[in-house]
Amino acid sequence: SGAFLSYIMCKGMGRSFISVILGGFGEGAGPKQEAKDYGEHTEIKAPEAAEILKGAKSVIITPGYGMATAGAQFAVADLTKKLREAGVEVRFGIHPVAGRLPGHMNVLLAEAKVPYDIVLEMDEINDDFPDTDVVLVIGANDTVNPDAYEPGSPIAGMPVLHVWEAGRVIIFKRSMATGYAGVQNPLFFNENSDMLFGDAKASVEEIIKSL
Ligand code: TAP
Repeated sequence: SGAFLSYIMCKGMGRSFISVILGGFGEGAGPKQEAKDYGEHTEIKAPEAAEILKGAKSVIITPGYGMATAGAQFAVADLTKKLREAGVEVRFGIHPVAGRLPGHMNVLLAEAKVPYDIVLEMDEINDDFPDTDVVLVIGANDTVNPDAYEPGSPIAGMPVLHVWEAGRVIIFKRSMATGYAGVQNPLFFNENSDMLFGDAKASVEEIIKSL
């Protein structure tokens, strides 16, 4: 089992087994992160996010490690239920190394009773982002970082979810801090991206209240 899990993890990170064991993810290669000017990010609050969701026909939720630390899976399941009842198509995009162990997000969503048939793997959903109105990035960072396509980036070669191709992207996190790999994420500065700062569970609960 350990060998299988290690294989899945290395594939998901786009790294060889040896380089994962030796560490060094996010260091060395590429220009110094803090030297790069990424531009301005925009912020929204939960009531605005609720308004955006009201106007959406299709939503993809991409959870990450922050959903686990916030314990937001039950609130996320509740939001999913409410949106689906209102006629919105809601699906989940799960990156193979989202969180800190293979299957981390799947276990949390199953625990919160999110129906299995709307929880899709990265490869199953990655082509659907251009036809999606809103993406909710809930506590994910490295797994949605477009810098993975920049040669020389410390995360170059890691497969990622193409969330930036959707109409609008709302990112739930507490600050502009980096994720596990220690790499800044240009997604946060895109024109169609908005940051929703705060603990992911509290933010999702506030959206549910506003809805
Ligand atoms: P990460 O890149 O680790 O980012 C998680 C983000 O969650 C952080 O940027 C953090 O931002 C935010 N966060 C933390 N607590 C939060 C809270 N209470 N509320 C809201 N946001 C919160 O996550 P990811 O996208 O899931 O990527 C996983 C990373 O772990 C990858 O680099 C992967 O290679 C690595 N990794 C994965 C595995 C497996 S097998 N899953 C094993 C080892 C390593 P703030 O601090 O600003 O809130």
